[in-house]
Parts: sequence; C-alpha cells; structure tokens
Amino acid sequence: MSEKKPILQMRNIAKRFGQFYALKDVSLSIYPGEIHALMGENGAGKSTLMKILAGAYTATSGEIVLDGQPYSINGPKDALRAGITLIYQEINLAPNLTVAENIFLGSELTRNGMVNRRQMEEETQQVLNRLAARFKANATVSSLTIAEQQQVEIARALHRNSRVLVMDEPTAALSSRETDRLFALVKQLRDEGMAIIYISHRMAEIYELSDRVSVLRDGQYIGSLMRDNLSSSELVRMMVGRPLNDLFNKDRTIEKGQTVLECQHLGDGNKVLEASLMVRAGEIVGLSGLVGAGRSELAQLIFGARPRTRGELLLRGNVVQFSSPRDAIDAGIGMLTENRKEQGLFLEMAVHDNIVMATIERDSHFHVLDEGRNRAISSTAIKSLNIRVPHSQVTVGGLSGGNQQKCLISRWTAIHPSLLILDEPTRGVDVGAKSEIYRMMTDMARKGVAILMISSELPEIVGMSDRVYVMRAGEIAGELADEAITQENIMALATGATQSASQVA
Ligand SMILES: Nc1ncnc2c1ncn2[C@@H]1O[C@H](COP(=O)(O)OP(=O)(O)OP(=O)(O)O)[C@@H](O)[C@H]1O
Ligand SMILES: [Mg+2]
Repeated sequence: MSEKKPILQMRNIAKRFGQFYALKDVSLSIYPGEIHALMGENGAGKSTLMKILAGAYTATSGEIVLDGQPYSINGPKDALRAGITLIYQEINLAPNLTVAENIFLGSELTRNGMVNRRQMEEETQQVLNRLAARFKANATVSSLTIAEQQQVEIARALHRNSRVLVMDEPTAALSSRETDRLFALVKQLRDEGMAIIYISHRMAEIYELSDRVSVLRDGQYIGSLMRDNLSSSELVRMMVGRPLNDLFNKDRTIEKGQTVLECQHLGDGNKVLEASLMVRAGEIVGLSGLVGAGRSELAQLIFGARPRTRGELLLRGNVVQFSSPRDAIDAGIGMLTENRKEQGLFLEMAVHDNIVMATIERDSHFHVLDEGRNRAISSTAIKSLNIRVPHSQVTVGGLSGGNQQKCLISRWTAIHPSLLILDEPTRGVDVGAKSEIYRMMTDMARKGVAILMISSELPEIVGMSDRVYVMRAGEIAGELADEAITQENIMALATGATQSASQVA
C-alpha cells in the first residue's frame, strides 16, 4: 500500500466554532483500496473532519489535496465533484420519492424535455444489482428498512462514481445480519478500489474491517496503526491518553434490597406477547435478545409509553396503572430511550434545559420553578459525568453524539429514580464515556436504584448484569444468573438455537 499514491490528503486542518477549536491541526492521508477507520473519544472531532470533507463545514485553515493537487471544498457541490460522499448516521433521503428518484435527485435524466423515468430506473437497477440489493429501483424509500436506505445511499455514491466513501457510525441502527451484509459490501467496494473512511466506536468492527486505523484526540491527530499491528489496548491508550484497566468494574458486593419492579404476564398484543420479570433494589438486570425481539417495546410498556393489553405491573408490591410516561416518572421511574434524536433530546435547547427537563416535569405540580436549584442540578451532572460542553447554555445539537447521550442520562439521574430503564445506554459512546456511564450505573445501584438495561452489546450485558432476561419473539425465552451469564448462553436463548442453555431461576 505504501507505494500507492494517496487519493486524498488533509493537511493541517483546523476548525473553529466561536472560541473553540474542534480541530486543531489534523493531517491525514487516504489511499485508494483501503478501509481507513477513524477512532477517537466523543467530541474528538471525527464527524467535524468528515463534514469538512463533504463540504458541510468549511475548514478554518488547512489544505485538502486531491490526486496530488490542492482542492478547495467550499460546499457540498465541490465535494461531489471531487468524488467524495459522506453517509451520515441520520439517513439523508427523500422518503416519499422512489429509490431511482433519490439517486437522480437534482440531476434527473430528460428526454424531449420530459423526465425519463424508465432510463433512470434502469440505470438505478444496474447499480442495485451490483450491490445485490433486494429491493427495486421503483420502490418508495419510506417502505425500506434503515439498512436498505443505507444501501440506497451507497448506490447513490456508486452512481456518482465516488472514489471516497465516508461512513459515520453506519451500524448503529442495524441488526447483526444487516451489519454482516454491510461489511461484505464495504469490503467489496474496497476491493474495487474505493477509499473508505469508516467511523465507529466498536472495537470488533474495527478489527473486522480496517486496513488502517487513525486516532483523533481533542481535535488533534494522535497516530495510525496498520492492520497487522492493531492492538486494542494500544488503541485505547491513543484514544483516552491513558490505559483503561477494567472497563466494567462490576461491584459484586452491592446488596440487593426489596423487589422494586415486577411485571406479570405483560403484553401489548403485538410486539410483546407475554413477559414476566422482576428487578430488585441495587440490582442491574440485563434485557438481551436480537433486534426486534420486543425489548424496547417491553420497556415502553413498563414506562407507560405503550398501551398494555394484558398483565400487571407492580411497583414495590403495589399494582400500578400508568397511562403515560408522566405517571411513570411521578412514580419514580426514569427511562433512557434508544433513539436520542427522535425520543429524547431537544437538540435546539440548551444542555442545561435538557438535563433538568424531567425534574421540571415532575415538580411542576407545585407550579414553582426553582431556577437556582435547576442550575445546581445541571452543573453537578455536567461535572459528574464529565460532559464536554463549552458552557451549559450551548444547544445539545452542537454536542458530539456521546456527550448527547451523557446529557440524557443526567436528566434521569437528576430525578433520583427508584427504577431506571436504560435502552442501549452506550450506543455511539466512546470507551472513556462508556466507563463513565458504567461507573454511574454502579453508583446508582449502590444507592439502591433498580436498573433494567437493554443492550445489544453482549460484552456489556455480561460485564454489567447481576441477572439477565433474554427475549425472543415477544416472550422471555429464559433467565440467566451469575456464572450462567455468558455470551454463548445468551445467544442460544436469543436465537432458540438450543434448548439446553442452562436456565437459572
Ligand atoms: N456546529 C457546531 N457548533 C459548535 N460546536 C460544535 C459543532 N459541531 C461540533 N462541535 C464541537 O466540536 C467537537 C467535535 O465534535 P464532533 O462531532 O466532530 O466529535 P466526534 O469525534 O464525531 O464525536 P462522537 O464520537 O461523539 O460522534 C465537540 O466538542 C463538539 O461539541
Ligand atoms: Mg461523530
């Protein structure tokens, strides 16, 4: 690879937002036919660097060199012309148009002054065939899954003959099968000579895909490792600036108190057929299962965010009826939702207001807002979870993904819940922030909070849980405790692969 010429070089790139330098002096070379992973803690500047490449931001200083020639990218059109495509985590398609219409958007083919739909669909279909896509060029985008919509974005890049494809945390919303398909596709494109820049926090993906990994920290380029000398402890040290010993730091000595939550035969007649489980004070209970098994829906049932058609919910032994999340919050339940953009955060509001929102909702019965107390709550939260914000009035939308997640968690710790439901608490979160979130969970358990954690990351379930329930097709397929909590046992229950997985009551 070293004798190849880089297709793209970023030289001494800096980017300033107000007084703050998100990127200080970053230089990076990208070669054709490589998967170049970009890693770094939340807020390190990865997405900012990529947005500069895609023309969404203009660099404050620095130079971009394309095929050996200086190239200025002053807007998305320049990036397109340079053959650079960025696939954002949030899909960027027009949902009501067809696949072909999306791919030709802005450059529609015409014939005798009319849009030539037939030819656009044919050309699109050819690209889709190359990707072995299972949907048609005339399908409406809104009818496709997230994974398929991602394929449309990739098809669009291929159709434009992009030479550099940037993917920013592309697997966050994919199931494991969809992830496998994406990886096969990414490798195929690499083998065809495309340069791929791949951003992810998941070490396993980095190992599987990357030919080279570069690390950013605090807006600076730290270094790169080639595939052959990848080591996760070295990567962590580069990202965090210090070694992280035990990521989970599980405290097995925490005493379990009384039962806080009990679900008896809970169901919604749709995604959750029947589920019974319980969580005690001081206990961290994992809820595992494949994507689509009904885990998030079960959490929504408990939280009053989804109508229940059967079963009962008991809080400290008393039957409760929640007709809305508001009732659940009043009863001392907090819930971190899976999708922070859609359900959780108010991106245009300040960090401070996002953090105290649940407290305000709970306390507004009294019709007094204690602004001083709210400020104290949010600044304590910002400090204790190490949220990186210039000041608490900055809007949440301007924070990096992992810091947004920490804000959401602070919102729920601020209400001092007796039960905290966490749906994918570390999705899109870097290792340093992960260890802070795990420490926060352990602290809360120590204070007697009952925690129910949904996670698709098996190491996290195994590392943090006292007990684990595994869901399959809307039902609890089994329960595991102590030594029986292994990735193998969980997968066996989740897939129904074997009946012999040890079930511990
Ligand atoms: N539009 C903006 N206005 C102000 N600050 C911004 C803006 N965009 C990014 N930042 C800041 O720049 C820094 C880098 O953010 P960036 O999104 O590039 O991080 P990241 O490495 O992609 O993190 P993550 O892994 O969490 O996605 C952060 O401190 C962020 O708050
Ligand atoms: Mg990012």
